[in-house]
Amino acid sequence: MASLAKPQILLVLSDREATLWERTLNQHGYEAISVTSGDAALQRLEEGKIDLIMLDIARPDLDSFELCKSIKMNERFQKIPVIMLTGEMKKKDRIKSIRVGAEDLLLKDENEEIMERLKMLIAVKVRIDRLQESLRNIVLLSTFAGELLSRFDTWYFEFEENIDAIVQRLIRKNVDMLDQPSLVLVGIFESSVQWRWYQYEYLFHELIKIPLQQELDLIKPLPEDLPVKVVIFNEVDSPKPKIFYDLQSLKTVNIHVKNGVCYLSKEICLFALNYGRNVYPHDAAVLENMAVNARFLRSLACQIKETENAFAYTVHALARAAEANDEDTGNHIVRVGEFSAILAERLLLGRKFVEQIRLQAVLHDVGKVYIAPAILRKREKLSAEEWLEVRKHPVYGANIIGDHPRLRVGYNIALNHHERWDGTGYPRGLRGESIPIEARIVNLADQYDALRMARGHKPAYSHEEAYEVLTKGDGRTLPGHFDPQVLTAFREVAALFAETYEKWR
Ligand SMILES: [Fe+2]
Ligand SMILES: [Fe+2]
Repeated sequence: MASLAKPQILLVLSDREATLWERTLNQHGYEAISVTSGDAALQRLEEGKIDLIMLDIARPDLDSFELCKSIKMNERFQKIPVIMLTGEMKKKDRIKSIRVGAEDLLLKDENEEIMERLKMLIAVKVRIDRLQESLRNIVLLSTFAGELLSRFDTWYFEFEENIDAIVQRLIRKNVDMLDQPSLVLVGIFESSVQWRWYQYEYLFHELIKIPLQQELDLIKPLPEDLPVKVVIFNEVDSPKPKIFYDLQSLKTVNIHVKNGVCYLSKEICLFALNYGRNVYPHDAAVLENMAVNARFLRSLACQIKETENAFAYTVHALARAAEANDEDTGNHIVRVGEFSAILAERLLLGRKFVEQIRLQAVLHDVGKVYIAPAILRKREKLSAEEWLEVRKHPVYGANIIGDHPRLRVGYNIALNHHERWDGTGYPRGLRGESIPIEARIVNLADQYDALRMARGHKPAYSHEEAYEVLTKGDGRTLPGHFDPQVLTAFREVAALFAETYEKWR
């Protein structure tokens, strides 16, 4: 038998016969379950795990043909074989049994024949179940890869979270799921660190993940020349692979290892252990595919992250180059990025946007590269003409950044970060929501930081002083300049501004 569990046979017989058959079936390694009515039979079928049904056609209180018909018309039960028993073989009953879909009609005193027929029908059912399980696994695999991809997020790709998702799919949630392992061990290799091992198990309907300590290092993952290895074993196999004995000897895994599939690679090891039945190569294929998907996504995430890092580096380099003309503003651009990210997060604008604004806000003054250093560094009051020149930097900045979609947020910021909610800003005097949200955010972030910094023409303000100016105004700066929602968000996260300023001082 493929399954480690006993096949279950549902008996709908007379009391005397039920007792006899219960004994016989138990002797042959089957589990017999007797019920006394058609309704009870259907109810027991609902509970699942019946491998064969024996029905007596001669019971006066039960229309066995009718019961067989309703079983065979039910999609969930129709694959369960039905043997009908009769005391006297009549042609009309034989035809009727065929019509209602029974697998056979046998004489009830032909025990040997019944047993042989029963064994054969159960063997066929096990093969059908196995095929269906394979099909289910194939479907599971194909949807799983799709699911992983749909949740794929370059910036927040967490290999461990993906492994958790794999294990959740793989592991047995309750005792009926014989086709799944009841225990999964996962080893993850982090660069320059050691292997980290976890044990996963369902306890009281909850997936428990326990970090394991040194013992699992017993299993040296792989020799240098072997990229991937998949091992399957069953307790009945002889000889068993070394890994079986390694696992048996583990003290942390307080469990008797019976069977399993082990996937070993240089970055991840997945051990699916103690399936409710023997394991087969298709179990190995399922596990291998899941591991390969996760490794593929990790490698893709690493590559995309490298590209993103190069992009971020270039953006910073451009912003720094533009600062060369200005007086030393230290980490001003970085802080403006951080403040903007804090506000965007508070305004629930989404993780992707938060990262975009964090990076691209550094470009807000990139247009100043076109403004004469003498004007930017001037300590005295600027003349009207000089002011006119300074006020061109948003347009210059937008021209430098251009219309590449990857820099759309930076473009909007550069062009609009001096616009004001009440329409008194520049260069276009936009008002309210016609100013892009990223610019409304950077406008406040930029002004907070400018107030905190000492510049040629002004001293540094404390956090409290800057907070007062932005929230209450000081004659030059007015609360009406800011998007009320952005200002509210600022009030709520002001403490974080103070912390961040100190961090990037
Ligand atoms: Fe500016
Ligand atoms: Fe600035």
